Amino acid sequence: MRTRRASIRYADGKTYDDKFVFGIFLGNQMVGCADIIRGYPGPTTALLGLLLIAEPFQRRGIGRAAYAELENRIRAWGACDRVRIGVIETNAAVMPFWQKLGFERTWQRRPYRYGSVASECIYFEKPLQ
Ligand SMILES: CC(C)(COP(=O)(O)OP(=O)(O)OC[C@H]1O[C@@H](n2cnc3c(N)ncnc32)[C@H](O)[C@@H]1OP(=O)(O)O)[C@@H](O)C(=O)NCCC(=O)NCCS
Repeated sequence: MRTRRASIRYADGKTYDDKFVFGIFLGNQMVGCADIIRGYPGPTTALLGLLLIAEPFQRRGIGRAAYAELENRIRAWGACDRVRIGVIETNAAVMPFWQKLGFERTWQRRPYRYGSVASECIYFEKPLQ
């Protein structure tokens, strides 16, 4: 079997100081998670890499409430004027969620491949006033 050599590194000069990972809790129970990269891909953008609410807890307003807290954290940095999220086209069902939170679809998209899934990543952004 051929072994592939892989290397990993932080994106574009980012360090772990710019990566924020959160658990989302209902009381003591963790019901979701989120992660943000500060200053990516541009210095004034916060990239929301993931917002995930466990299935039994979806559609109860938890995603909206968690996002509001994440946005407060981002605002408190004083460094970012927009939040960006990539939605995989095969997961287009969640687009209304982001639009309800004030995100707008951009013209930017890029090919996405994960295992046998070949799709596109579509970017949404929300300006922070
Ligand atoms: C997308 C996700 C985070 C939404 O979280 P949630 O807790 O279910 O959403 P909320 O209950 O807070 O919904 C907020 C609003 O968005 C709407 N909404 C949520 N999911 C929706 C969906 N799939 N389709 C349409 N509207 C949706 C709700 O109806 C609600 O609208 P309202 O305020 O007018 O009543 C959650 O479904 C999830 O974790 N999905 C799997 C992971 C995922 O796809 N994450 C996003 C990657 S881009």
